[in-house]
Amino acid sequence: MKKIAVFASHNGSDLQAVIDGCKAGKINASVCCVLSNNADAFALQRAKDAGIDTYCINASLYPDPDELDRVTLDILQKHETNLILLAGYLKKIGLPVLRAYENRIFNIHPALLPKFGGKGMYGINVHKAVIEAGETFSGVTIHRVNAEYDSGDIVVQAKVPVLPGDTPEKLAARILEREHTFLVEILSKITMEVE
Ligand code: GRF
Repeated sequence: MKKIAVFASHNGSDLQAVIDGCKAGKINASVCCVLSNNADAFALQRAKDAGIDTYCINASLYPDPDELDRVTLDILQKHETNLILLAGYLKKIGLPVLRAYENRIFNIHPALLPKFGGKGMYGINVHKAVIEAGETFSGVTIHRVNAEYDSGDIVVQAKVPVLPGDTPEKLAARILEREHTFLVEILSKITMEVE
């Protein structure tokens, strides 16, 4: 069974979908650890409630970026991590971790990349921009992670309609709901392919 390390900065509803998907046997894997830059992230509480080891890693605790990378790698290796999922993680991943887990780090983004991605394109900002651009479809992108925000190879996308009268909040909720089912569906495939 594959081991997934999840990085999350805030609420962690995507993390919850993955935890539940693993428990239900829909994904042939387990969440081996959850890492966050934010000690107050609800994602950490969700992980603790599920009996999963949690770690806070950030520049206040580890001001030296090399040490931060070393500590992160140690955690991942200690848990025999096979793949990493960034689920609402707002920090970049350091080069040593990118190299050690090349092609095995995935991010979920709440829009159809390459549009509406990059620095500052997170949370409600993404959905505001989609509505302002007059798009009739938005969606979910799962992509590989590289050293830049939201620019690694796209693995798969799901479309979600933008409806007349949508507010950014309404669109965000519709997309997040789709993320939860899509993540389980796609991770069940990815975990079969990854070494
Ligand atoms: C999701 O919309 C995901 O696509 C994005 O961050 C959000 C995380 O939501 N990267 P949650 O914290 O899992 O509820």
